[in-house]
Amino acid sequence: MKTKKIIKGKLLTAISPNRVLYLDPSYLVISEDGVIEDVCKEIPKSGEYDQEFYDYSEKLICPGFIDIHNHLPQFTLSGLYRGNLLEWLSEIVFPAEGRLSSPEVAERFAEQFFLELLSKGTTTTSSYVTSHKEATDIAFRYAERSGIRAFLGNVLMDQNAPDYLINDTQVLLRDSEGLIEKWDGYDNGRLRYVLTPRFAPTCSFDLLQGIGKIAQKHGVHIQTHLAESKEEIATAMDIFSDFENYTDVYSQAGLLTERTIAAHCIYLNDSEIETLQKTGAKISHCPSSNRFLQSGIMPYRKLEKSGIPIGLGTDVGAGYSLSMFSEMREAIESSKTIHFLDPSTDYKPITSIEAFYLATLGGAKALSLDDETGSLEKGKSADFSIIDIAQLNVFNEDFFSNPEDLISKLIYSSGENYIEKVFIKGKLVYKK
Ligand code: GUN
Ligand code: ZN
Repeated sequence: MKTKKIIKGKLLTAISPNRVLYLDPSYLVISEDGVIEDVCKEIPKSGEYDQEFYDYSEKLICPGFIDIHNHLPQFTLSGLYRGNLLEWLSEIVFPAEGRLSSPEVAERFAEQFFLELLSKGTTTTSSYVTSHKEATDIAFRYAERSGIRAFLGNVLMDQNAPDYLINDTQVLLRDSEGLIEKWDGYDNGRLRYVLTPRFAPTCSFDLLQGIGKIAQKHGVHIQTHLAESKEEIATAMDIFSDFENYTDVYSQAGLLTERTIAAHCIYLNDSEIETLQKTGAKISHCPSSNRFLQSGIMPYRKLEKSGIPIGLGTDVGAGYSLSMFSEMREAIESSKTIHFLDPSTDYKPITSIEAFYLATLGGAKALSLDDETGSLEKGKSADFSIIDIAQLNVFNEDFFSNPEDLISKLIYSSGENYIEKVFIKGKLVYKK
């Protein structure tokens, strides 16, 4: 006889950017292979199968978060400030990433990084490792053990970075194909390889073009940075002076596809937005990083209006927390600042429901994973966390009947502190 897990709790899930489903009580029925078979309002009848029953009646069943942009070797650097992006990269980030040439260091980082993500309720991550093939292989091994869903890529650079981080163009391309063969699609697609050119300034056009060809040949994802700061754009345009704009460099190299995630996108002109739109590329909004490095504020509503799918990225270590609650808070607060700076516009700040969507289903859509994860619906993988929301309501006030209030409370009260358990594919992967 088959065994199914029945999880009872207050279930919250995004349905669209402006709508959530909130069921209390709710029963999540999970098959042996970790797929959600049903979401019911009443306890399902047993008989045809054994039930493992878990009662979280007073707790929240929350979809796993999807962090679509962060850096594994940088999570210990969070909070270290050295002025703008380019100074911070050369003074803090590059030397730190160099240390992962040691397999022992790479192992320590990988083990702790995935554990931290899971402890904050992040069940899917798209992460930059370092330039090192070995460190990336190690990251895959630890991601495999941890149970997390992950897109991982070695950072590809063949110019304008320290010697200890750059490599020969052809060697980089060969290494990428080796890692694709070994890891892309592992465990029914739980692990994927993502081609990771750091950003235009550190990549020759040959490298960018080579990456575009590999992406096409293997159908793999691409992640990179785009239009993050004014100095970065000036540097990129200095190097690629024959191109119309920053986006045009990636576009002509064949890097913009439906599986491309471009992070930041603060300073795109209309023609660049149109290029992203036409190619089907997606955007990672990284509000805490944008503020921390004083890069700027992404014009969220303008990009949303263009129809380009947007997800949220913590961009740790420029972002200062791996918590998606923290990132949601920054998304909302930075959008309030846009309105504050120019009250003449009818700019509407991001709502807590929209932020929740971006951190879950929106992220899944940006990674083209929305058939598999991002919300708690029949047929999707059982990726969720159990949150002890009672701790947010010490006097038992009426906070939890309205899902918008509940989400807002979690966002503004560091909801990650109340995560008790995390499940991926129906399997317990983290326990406080
Ligand atoms: N641009 C190129 N590399 C990086 C990085 O590591 N972090 C951020 N925020 N931007 C980048
Ligand atoms: Zn980044």
